[in-house]
Amino acid sequence: MIHRVVWRARSEGESTVPRGDLKRGFFLSFEGIEGCGKTSQLHRLARRLRALGYQVVETREPGGAPISEQIRTILLDLKNRGMEARCELLLYLASRAQHVAETIRPALEKGAVVLCDRFADATTAYQGYGRGLGPAVVARLNRFATAGLSPDLAILLDVPVAVGLARKRRAGGLDRLDREQASFHEAVRRGYLRIARQNPRRVRVVDGTASEDAVARAIDQIVQPRLRARRSGLTRVEPHAV
Ligand SMILES: Nc1ncnc2c1ncn2[C@@H]1O[C@H](COP(=O)(O)OP(=O)(O)OP(=O)(O)O)[C@@H](O)[C@H]1O
Ligand SMILES: [Mg+2]
Repeated sequence: MIHRVVWRARSEGESTVPRGDLKRGFFLSFEGIEGCGKTSQLHRLARRLRALGYQVVETREPGGAPISEQIRTILLDLKNRGMEARCELLLYLASRAQHVAETIRPALEKGAVVLCDRFADATTAYQGYGRGLGPAVVARLNRFATAGLSPDLAILLDVPVAVGLARKRRAGGLDRLDREQASFHEAVRRGYLRIARQNPRRVRVVDGTASEDAVARAIDQIVQPRLRARRSGLTRVEPHAV
């Protein structure tokens, strides 16, 4: 309850809330260019963690709450090719603000492990670096949208652009962003790697070109020790069979 009061008070008056006021839960995002394996690996990790008895919430961006999912539809719609970069940035942030308030923050307060398919680093990579709006302006607006909440850990699945796009093509259905020029995706990939270099503890790079099993093992080796270190703030439930 105290957490909630602190949250309200700070989100009205300040642009930044340190993670420190929220001692419970663990917030992990999956990042990387299209087709790098985020969604597959997120589901696999969720299954493994549930089998170990963690309470797990799977969510995604843009989306993850009803209003945010409506904004997702606008963002991915092929009809919206004329979308201005600033409009795109603000729609992502609007979606995120609702997602944090309605889904992520309450789940963390309950002691859940929240696995999020893309989060704020994606906005820095795509809109900051890819669209050229710059990482500084995106960082400032991200802090406003999230009221300072950032993932405890981001797994960056790194693959060459050609590998990611070939996987997507095989799986079928390219959306508005998938159809961007290869140079855009290259800029996004470089942006992600730069974010990882600047945040070596929070963002961990995993080679996404390995087999799905090998990638899953690499992710486990990073995630499991972090969860053990946080265990007093995590809710344990009856392990689910997998
Ligand atoms: N390590 C891997 N090796 C080979 N194929 C993979 C691997 N990981 C995922 N794939 C396949 O590549 C395709 C894209 O994977 P996935 O949907 O998990 O990527 P994603 O990062 O979520 O993509 P998007 O950015 O479009 O959401 C899927 O068909 C998936 O089965
Ligand atoms: Mg995906």
